[in-house]
Amino acid sequence: LCQPDMLNVHLVPHTHDDVGWLKTVDQYFYGDRNDIQHAGVQYILDSVVDQLLKNPDRRFIYVETAFFYRWWRQQSSSMQQTVKQLVNEGRLEFVNGGWCMSDEATTHYSAVIDQMTMGLRFLNETFGPCGRPRVAWHIDPFGHAREHASMFAQMGYDGFFFGRLDYQDRARRMMYREQELLWRASDSLTPPMADLFTGILPNGYNPPEGFCWDQSCDDAPIRDDPDLEDYNVDDVVKRFLAIAEGQVRNTYTNHIIMTMGSDFQYENANLWYKNLDKLIHYVNAQQANGIKVNVLYSTPSCYLQELHRTNLTWALKNDDFFPYADDAHDFWTGYFTSRPALKRYERISNSNLQVMCNQLEVLGGPVSRRGPFGVGDSKTMKEAMAVAQHHDAVSGTEKQHVANDYARRLANGWQHCQVLVSNSLAGLSGSTAERIYCDNLNISVCPLTESSKKFSVNVYNPLARPVTWPVRLPVNGTAYVVSDANGKSVDSQVSFCVSRGFAVNELVFQVQAPPLGYTTYSVSLLQNGPPPASTQHHTPTAIKNKVLNHMTFDPDTGLLSSLSNLETKQTIKLTQNFYWYNASDGNNVESIQPSGAYIFRPNSSTPFVISKTAKTESIQTPAVQEVRQWFSPWVSQVVRLYADSRALELEWTVGPVPIDDDLGKEVITRLDTSIQTAQYFYTDSNGREVLQRKTDFRPTWNLKQSEPIAGNYYPINSRAFIKDDDDQLTVVTDRSQGGGSINNGSLEIMLHRRLLYDDVRGVAEPLNETSGIFPKGLVVRGRLLLSLDRPASAADAHRPLAQEVVLQPLLTFTGGDLHPNTRLEFSGLQAALPPAVHLLTLSQWDKDSVLLRLEHQFQSWESKVNSQPVTVNLQKLFTTLDVLGVSELNLSANQWKDEMKRFSWTPESGTAHLHLSVPSLQHIRT
Ligand SMILES: *[C@@H]1O[C@H](CO)[C@@H](O)[C@H](O)[C@H]1NC(C)=O
Ligand SMILES: *[C@@H]1O[C@H](CO)[C@@H](O)[C@H](O)[C@H]1NC(C)=O
Ligand SMILES: *[C@@H]1O[C@H](CO)[C@@H](O)[C@H](O)[C@H]1NC(C)=O
Ligand SMILES: *[C@@H]1O[C@H](CO)[C@@H](O)[C@H](O)[C@H]1NC(C)=O
Ligand SMILES: *[C@@H]1O[C@H](CO)[C@@H](O)[C@H](O)[C@H]1NC(C)=O
Ligand SMILES: *[C@@H]1O[C@H](CO)[C@@H](O)[C@H](O)[C@H]1NC(C)=O
Ligand SMILES: [Zn+2]
Repeated sequence: LCQPDMLNVHLVPHTHDDVGWLKTVDQYFYGDRNDIQHAGVQYILDSVVDQLLKNPDRRFIYVETAFFYRWWRQQSSSMQQTVKQLVNEGRLEFVNGGWCMSDEATTHYSAVIDQMTMGLRFLNETFGPCGRPRVAWHIDPFGHAREHASMFAQMGYDGFFFGRLDYQDRARRMMYREQELLWRASDSLTPPMADLFTGILPNGYNPPEGFCWDQSCDDAPIRDDPDLEDYNVDDVVKRFLAIAEGQVRNTYTNHIIMTMGSDFQYENANLWYKNLDKLIHYVNAQQANGIKVNVLYSTPSCYLQELHRTNLTWALKNDDFFPYADDAHDFWTGYFTSRPALKRYERISNSNLQVMCNQLEVLGGPVSRRGPFGVGDSKTMKEAMAVAQHHDAVSGTEKQHVANDYARRLANGWQHCQVLVSNSLAGLSGSTAERIYCDNLNISVCPLTESSKKFSVNVYNPLARPVTWPVRLPVNGTAYVVSDANGKSVDSQVSFCVSRGFAVNELVFQVQAPPLGYTTYSVSLLQNGPPPASTQHHTPTAIKNKVLNHMTFDPDTGLLSSLSNLETKQTIKLTQNFYWYNASDGNNVESIQPSGAYIFRPNSSTPFVISKTAKTESIQTPAVQEVRQWFSPWVSQVVRLYADSRALELEWTVGPVPIDDDLGKEVITRLDTSIQTAQYFYTDSNGREVLQRKTDFRPTWNLKQSEPIAGNYYPINSRAFIKDDDDQLTVVTDRSQGGGSINNGSLEIMLHRRLLYDDVRGVAEPLNETSGIFPKGLVVRGRLLLSLDRPASAADAHRPLAQEVVLQPLLTFTGGDLHPNTRLEFSGLQAALPPAVHLLTLSQWDKDSVLLRLEHQFQSWESKVNSQPVTVNLQKLFTTLDVLGVSELNLSANQWKDEMKRFSWTPESGTAHLHLSVPSLQHIRT
């Protein structure tokens, strides 16, 4: 089909179908609520299949398995046969193929791998090898994470295409013909394991100007009857060749790609295909006149294959594509934080999915799915989580009713998982006593613990090593006896509660849970116990524990003033406070861009302090020491240090953000330290590897900085740090947030945003969240964990800490006494895994097999001890599972490892541009 001596123009018919955005995923599927946006995916697939059958040359690619799966289930078996045929003949091709096209800035790698696995599994089981996508296709996400590229490489993709990158970066890449490159996406995996060929689409994902033939477009159709009016074939051909010539100037090969489609297009596919047929016919007819241009229906994998055949070398890239700006004052760095409550709910739902649905389904065996508590399933939660990874879901860039729909799906998933858990734990413990789930512990509400004189707590630990974890329970009594599984009593403390719940007090104790297993604590009310620890109304000058930390507070302001690590004998100055940026209303000379769901655009680079001083109270008990700080009626914080903790907890509460300025605010906390950072700081990529960042700098081009704050924000998914030769301060977050290091020694994190203007990127709604319990504006609470270490060993502390926040222990409760035969302790592992190994996935695959993912969780340079290779004996891993055989798969589990063959690509060495043959205008015209 391609012509070696011509310029080949690959036309790629495609549709971009958001798995929820202005409408919910199901509304988009059915074409419901067309008053909001005209879009109906079922009609798109109907229409495209119909049109593909009319001409064997026609091609179409489909991307989002969440939609395709919905459609497939409704087709007759003869239609399914027809579609299989189209797939086998390469006329309908799946690209990307995950459940959705995930967001790259706010997702965690474990959830991304899961959603890709789900979509690709469906494609494999339905279509076999011909259904396996060869290219990853992220045409819309608003910036691109290195970890995503690394995952795609490990999932066996041959290449990756996307549409959005910084406008300055694009301009430079066009000039140097580097829109096609080799992304080396890991500094730890040996090349080419994480190498991914990456192509930047020349026109975003839209058709070239003047060539949109969808029913939603207004471009002129090809009018090719010379007897009729407005014959325009010559004009169309001329315009098309001009566009092709423009594109070829920015490439090295005699192949160019044109995306022919856009958002929810092809609902009436006849319009597109009829005109594309004609376009191909009339342009290729010019070959008779010596024009060496060959236009063809194509797909990204066909295009990629041609590029591969050229044997060229490609520019190498090691960093990522954040932040994304489409103009000087238009940085898409607000969505790193938008909808912080949804972002947290998504993260904790991932934890619940892994723990409740996946691990406990495996460990409990078949009784988990059908047992004393009924029929449970993990599918509901898996689908809800997969949909939530979409680039308008966890990103926070959807309309409010759609955000509500994502949350509702997750909540529904929780319900189904809870049945699994009850069944599984009943099987493992031998007790069918009713299990209570306190889903509102986050706001200190749990009717069982508040009202019971005696109850037990089952603590399930999803990590493959033992954990120590503080438990805080709302209670009404003043003293309790807490005993562990051996009947030994453990230190506990009741303190006066600051919660919004009904309980008056809070019971705090440390639990220790075995790897991949549970233990049980029993709690009984002590009659006539001592009164609860009460608060002191002066600020203590310091809080500390014996293990590591020592914090001082400034007695005049009530703010933190220093942090020490007693073990390593380090001390830094550390001031922490809360500030807000005044949002731009779009009304100024430089640009009319306001801040909104996507875009962060403060109208001044100096944030306003919420209060220079904090009103404080403190509680000091042997189990926990707290300093409670009030900054304003809408900003408060608890600085908390547990007895055995290596990290300091900052539990912030922000909201309702005042909107009396009719504008909105973006609230940050800032840590100002004595660490000498020389503009460098570090953020993680999708919760996995860490990248170095530098203020006002990009590694691959000469940045012209136009937004000194927003242009220096990066996504933080689970941790960020600043360091110098002596000290490293790491902040572990409980959800994805945006942040930056604007000044030397400083790290700021955006916590909450409320904005009354829409930022004109399509969502057409201000980011003005309220909810039933917070009608005046959403109140959000979260935690930051701070640790101070020597740079050489910091990762040994913060990598496991970040995993503990991502995969949290699951607490379940039983009222009264447990049956004496209840098994109080259980571990699914024969021994804890080495610290370098993270058990990423343990989930039921089919009746007789489970999917296991073990991950080396340290980067090659991070740790003297833990970065070393490790060996794990799978035969001796589990206590309840017999390993009869093991087959190794790629990362997305849709290909056997030994069958995985990817294209190999050669990076260019040094500045090799000049040696390459460059197609020129002559190339087209000769
Ligand atoms: C690329 O290299 C292969 C093997 O060296 C060779 O057979 C092929 O002709 C080359 N292709 C081009 C377009 O140079
Ligand atoms: C607390 O968690 C529940 C889910 O268990 C969630 O529905 C609720 O919104 C959360 N509340 C707050 C204030 O974050
Ligand atoms: C706990 O005590 C409070 C205040 O005395 C009371 O309002 C509440 O009903 C009690 N809760 C339970 C569950 O007993
Ligand atoms: C915030 O910005 C608006 C215009 O965007 C301006 O009118 C207002 O005075 C600013 N507020 C403060 C406190 O500077
Ligand atoms: C924001 O929400 C508040 C509270 O519901 C409401 O009073 C206000 O009108 C909203 N403003 C905008 C611009 O949506
Ligand atoms: C792909 O699907 C086929 C058909 O169901 C199955 O036999 C094969 O094991 C699957 N491949 C992988 C890698 O799971
Ligand atoms: Zn999209």
